[in-house]
Amino acid sequence: MKVSGTVRVPGDKSISHRALMVAALARGRSELSGLLSGDDVKSTARVLRRLGVDVSTVRDGAVVTVQGGRFSSPRGSLDCGNSGTTARLSLGLLAGQRFGARLTGDASLRRRPMRRVTEPLRAMGAHIEEERGDSLPLTIRGGRLAPLDYASPVASAQLKSALLLAGLTGRVAVTVREPYRSRDHTERLLVHLGLGVKVDGTAVSFVPADPPSAIPPYRLVIPGDISSAAFLVVAAVLAEGGELLLENVGVNPTRTGVLIVLERMGARVERLNLSEAGGEPVADLLVRPARLGGTEVTAAEVPTLVDEVPVLAVLASRARPGAETVFREVGELRVKESNRLELIAANLQAVGGDAEASGNDLRVRGTARPPRGRVDTAGDHRLAMAFAVLGTVPGADVRLSERASVAISYPRFFEDLRRIGGGGRGKGARHRD
Ligand code: S3P
Repeated sequence: MKVSGTVRVPGDKSISHRALMVAALARGRSELSGLLSGDDVKSTARVLRRLGVDVSTVRDGAVVTVQGGRFSSPRGSLDCGNSGTTARLSLGLLAGQRFGARLTGDASLRRRPMRRVTEPLRAMGAHIEEERGDSLPLTIRGGRLAPLDYASPVASAQLKSALLLAGLTGRVAVTVREPYRSRDHTERLLVHLGLGVKVDGTAVSFVPADPPSAIPPYRLVIPGDISSAAFLVVAAVLAEGGELLLENVGVNPTRTGVLIVLERMGARVERLNLSEAGGEPVADLLVRPARLGGTEVTAAEVPTLVDEVPVLAVLASRARPGAETVFREVGELRVKESNRLELIAANLQAVGGDAEASGNDLRVRGTARPPRGRVDTAGDHRLAMAFAVLGTVPGADVRLSERASVAISYPRFFEDLRRIGGGGRGKGARHRD
């Protein structure tokens, strides 16, 4: 395909969740613009409404208002849908509340591990009952919390944020130490609001004010999601000509690993019009097609591109024939919305690519053969989008098992992909209805 045009990708999913949750704790009315209108963010809005918070309709282009304050005991379970961020961060929000609440989610979310969050929350004093072991459904009854200094075995922003939010609602000091630095949107938002956060290398602390101060209501502009932009960036790099401009994309350094890896593989993405919104750096991204080599993605880089591994693996499969890319220590991909580590490798093989999961590493080799075959997305939005991008290369015939899952994080994905030139001609990525 030839790529062209200018696209505004949807609002950042991670920042959208946090913006809603912290606004729900603020005393007064907050206004959020640029919020993602995907299903995951709707899950957070639904959970907050169940807790008695007034959240206006989350709709594309709408300014969302949140009337924050005290939470009330929910009637019925809190349904987190497909969203791990909703479930894990809500556990943190609820750890300091005196009522009980039962959290559940869809079949994919009910398979995902929760003890990484519930164990440290229990150590702070929250009571959490499991129904089926290390997963949802869970019932949490919060209360008086004790301070915590926790060395986490995984670099996880969801875990870190859950503990910081528990400190915020329970008004106790919390320090989280990570093996590598994960995305820092929660820290940035709290600092932006004048709340006490200290960062020291890979350790982050919430320090409550003395006497405790109320969280002020706020106006926040949410930048575009670099994780959504990444699919169009890769489509443009794989194109045969032209260029693509992506406007207003968040370029927080804890999220830009995808751009650094792209550069090592031979594709340069220019950052134009750098600015700032709500404590987050923002830029326009200008992308052109490139010839690609392989690279090694280190364990320390993985948290900065964890959601981009599917699309980077797709890109690596189109590198110079035989060029190898290795993603080190990506075992966390097994516990995402699907077992991404196995499914990336299996799906690349299914379309004639050369990839394998070996231990916790993922290896992908480049090939010039047109990708042809059926891909099992397992209802995982990022797999659907990554393999749809693979379906834009010349001669491709990539059949997706479904494509409705893109509504989780990028509802207009197929429209945007078509608009920039992908999927318009030839067979491209088809799907079974
Ligand atoms: C997220 C953190 C990451 C990421 C997820 C969103 C967040 O998960 O994969 O899509 O908003 O904090 P982990 O914290 O489990 O790595």
